[in-house]
Amino acid sequence: MPPEQTSSASDGQNEIRVLVVAPTGRDAALLCQALSRADMQALECRSCEAACLELQRAGAGTLIIAEEALSIADIQRLAELMSNQPAWSDFPLILLTLSGEVTVQSQRRRLVRAPLVRALELERPIRPETLISTVQNALRARHRQYEIRDYILQERNAEEALRRSEKLAVAGRLAATIAHEINNPLEAVINLVYLARTSRSQKAAREYLERAESELGRVAAIASETLKFYRQPNRATETQIPEILRSLLALYRDKIAGSKVELRTDFKDVPPIVAFGGELRQVFSNLLTNAIDAAAGGRIDIRLRHARDRSGRKGVKVLVADTGPGIPESVKSSIFEPFVSTKATRGTGLGLWVSSEIVRKHGGSIRVRSSSKPDLHGTVFCVFLPQVPDSTQPRAAAS
Ligand SMILES: Nc1ncnc2c1ncn2[C@@H]1O[C@H](COP(=O)(O)OP(=O)(O)OP(=O)(O)O)[C@@H](O)[C@H]1O
Ligand SMILES: [Mg+2]
Repeated sequence: MPPEQTSSASDGQNEIRVLVVAPTGRDAALLCQALSRADMQALECRSCEAACLELQRAGAGTLIIAEEALSIADIQRLAELMSNQPAWSDFPLILLTLSGEVTVQSQRRRLVRAPLVRALELERPIRPETLISTVQNALRARHRQYEIRDYILQERNAEEALRRSEKLAVAGRLAATIAHEINNPLEAVINLVYLARTSRSQKAAREYLERAESELGRVAAIASETLKFYRQPNRATETQIPEILRSLLALYRDKIAGSKVELRTDFKDVPPIVAFGGELRQVFSNLLTNAIDAAAGGRIDIRLRHARDRSGRKGVKVLVADTGPGIPESVKSSIFEPFVSTKATRGTGLGLWVSSEIVRKHGGSIRVRSSSKPDLHGTVFCVFLPQVPDSTQPRAAAS
């Protein structure tokens, strides 16, 4: 089938032209003349094989082919082409059949071309008006298919751009977190080095330097945790969820303390799962920062369990619960959609959308329960990830 993308004006012209295969006598020339008189662009092809190659190379609006030009190999080639079309395409094929009574030969010919069931059949002799209106209908149908294709491409590009912008937003947030996290130990190091330099006691100076060394170790750990975020393999690998959660908690330690949040963790031993570690880090980073934003002065519980989903698949379940005010009713039903945020300029509203896409890609599910009742407020996000990715049962739900 023709290439999926239109990249130049000439490709656009190719996509609406009519390919014609009619090897007997002057049939092809007459057909092309009739089509160009009706303002349609036609290209005569020597054989069915040549037409198929042309179609794959540059596309076409429709193909008119005379029955006698079709060998069994041609029929197979065409049938294969028709069944390998992208989802948006239903290429219109017009078959010019031989006229005459129903005979054993004509029945046999019909059986041979059975794989081309979707072709429009026109019996010769054809009136020029019938030919023109059939081709025009075919081109109109093809045009609608191109519109669907372009719409799908636009959607795909827009989604990709959103995903990229979320990655940048994550990078920005992370850069700010890192600057913040690194600042404290660095200030401590500067002080400790000063104390060591001015100390009269060698023993005290050594102690200052040892403490400075351990603070620098923290700086190095923060830097390497961050790098892990971005250096991810391009295929799913064995991933330790507890490791991801612990490294995120270390990264957000000061943010949690700064928000006066009490953190409780309960991690059971779980087997590794096959996943894209960097992406899952993004999911849990977003759930955790959302919980920290919501739970200032309250509590966050993070629980990790070995679990099965409703269809019995083995995997892991991560629960992130906070005692914050709950998800505002105004956004509750749309938090998994892009650009839904109540954080004004502090949030992009892409976090949960990207998270749900990532979980869906891993064949898992993400669910949320949230309440704003005065005596019972809080939010619980529950992520299930199968041990081995399987994208057949994606789910994202709010209640
Ligand atoms: N734990 C939570 N408690 C209360 N509300 C929440 C919680 N998690 C999400 N929300 C609500 O859902 C909205 C969407 O969250 P999402 O993570 O997608 O975007 P965001 O946090 O606003 O921005 P960002 O793209 O920077 O993550 C939030 O703005 C908030 O209103
Ligand atoms: Mg968020």
